[in-house]
Amino acid sequence: MNQIVAVLDFGSQYTQIIARRIRECQVHSKIYHFSTPAETLRAEGVIGIILSGGPSSVFAKDAPIPDKAIFDLGVPVLGICYGIQLMGHLLGGKVSKSSHREYGHGTLRVKSAGRLFAGLPRTLKVWNSHGDRLIALPPGFKAIGTTENSEYAAIEDRARSFFGIQFHPEVFHTERGIDIYKNFLFGVCGAKHSWTMRSFIDHAIADIRKTVGKGRVILGLSGGVDSSVAAALIHRAIGKQLTCVFVDNGLLRKGEREYVTELYAKHFHIDLRVVDASRLFLKRLKGVSEPEQKRKIIGRTFVEVFEKSLKSIGHAEFLAQGTLYPDVIESVAIGNNPAALIKTHHNVGGLPERMKLKLLEPLRELFKDEVREVGAKLGLPKEVVWRQPFPGPGLGVRVLGEISRDKLDILREADAILYQEMKDCGWYWKVWQSFCVFIPVKSVGVVGDERNYAWVIGIRVVESRDAMTADWTRLPYDLLQKISSRITNEVRGVSRVVLDISSKPPATIEWE
Ligand code: XMP
Repeated sequence: MNQIVAVLDFGSQYTQIIARRIRECQVHSKIYHFSTPAETLRAEGVIGIILSGGPSSVFAKDAPIPDKAIFDLGVPVLGICYGIQLMGHLLGGKVSKSSHREYGHGTLRVKSAGRLFAGLPRTLKVWNSHGDRLIALPPGFKAIGTTENSEYAAIEDRARSFFGIQFHPEVFHTERGIDIYKNFLFGVCGAKHSWTMRSFIDHAIADIRKTVGKGRVILGLSGGVDSSVAAALIHRAIGKQLTCVFVDNGLLRKGEREYVTELYAKHFHIDLRVVDASRLFLKRLKGVSEPEQKRKIIGRTFVEVFEKSLKSIGHAEFLAQGTLYPDVIESVAIGNNPAALIKTHHNVGGLPERMKLKLLEPLRELFKDEVREVGAKLGLPKEVVWRQPFPGPGLGVRVLGEISRDKLDILREADAILYQEMKDCGWYWKVWQSFCVFIPVKSVGVVGDERNYAWVIGIRVVESRDAMTADWTRLPYDLLQKISSRITNEVRGVSRVVLDISSKPPATIEWE
């Protein structure tokens, strides 16, 4: 577990992907700010360093430059894109400034396979995205690969185990990119296959026991993937010392409260306290129709209810949270690196400080896909591990405008039909999110011979990788027809079903 390969982040949009590719090879990778002192890396037991790409130019006034002592640590270094230029610039080569970026496919011709390209074909399709490029090698280096536009697309200093590549092996457009990483990790750095979720679970359990001792831990269970896996892991470690609190805010999906109770209390035997605060939430939301105001009320009320429930549970030392690795990486804001724009709020309203609770975050080293694997290994069902994201304010942002119990009930029924149909045919697992929205417009329909003046339900199904962009899913017409006719036939108060065919941008995924 202590064999770490460091990814120094120079602001590339691919930094997290590099770290994930390394972990897919069962090697522990961690992302570090580009300015991290070499001594820190040595103390952490780093066995190899990868210099990420980045939008900057080594000639820029404020170019991100690492601690030069990283080259004296005696560990292998692989510079990617901006990383190779940095190596050229800092180790005595020459970089040429370019006014435009070379972007897209290129063909790499391997001149000498060496350790980096061992076992790979002599020509490879690679993905380029760079401006400047290396035009003279630093002392000790030789070229091991060329592309159409670059004599030094891949370079090596054999004695020091330093490598540089101009292209991006972490993106799927680069052929056999994962094998280049494997060669670097196992062939050059001498890494072992020690990062597995099995070994993570064993270490995490030992860690939790050591940290918590005989103390008590409280966890706010939302039913989402992260808090569920955190609960299962902590429970495995300390059993009854963990108490979970599940707040019913009246904005949950149909059957959610019962499902959570059944799974965690009955199946896992977790000490689960269900707090029914639905009346309070709905009372506070009465007459409010502005989306941001609704969100604020829901957030504030949640903190209040949660805090009150902690007092009634009694003394605890720790508050557990399902914080993930992307939430804790210190982002490098250079150019338009999207990772720098994503901010997650993971301290429930500053509760830990106010209540003098210590934070316990057993998943803070993991990416989402790793959390899912841990959840599955701990015995959580597919329905939880692969569940679609659900917004914190729940159905509160899916009943448009003012919320009422009646509207929520209608939405819950319609949404349950959509969920069941999507799951039955398997589409549920293929899309990012699929849900209904309550549109507060009445339209005319007919039931038997009677005129039916009733509400409209919208269907929203999207595909996405990270929710930053999304495209509406082209569901089969037969499936849409079945969902629509079931909703209009089975849900009283609905006369019409409409399909949302907007992408993000310009629309957002949720309607509010
Ligand atoms: P939008 O609507 O912004 O949603 O395209 C992007 C993703 O975020 C979820 N979402 C929220 N999650 N609190 C949350 O915890 C919120 O207020 C919230 N609003 C949107 C949404 O479901 C989608 O996955």
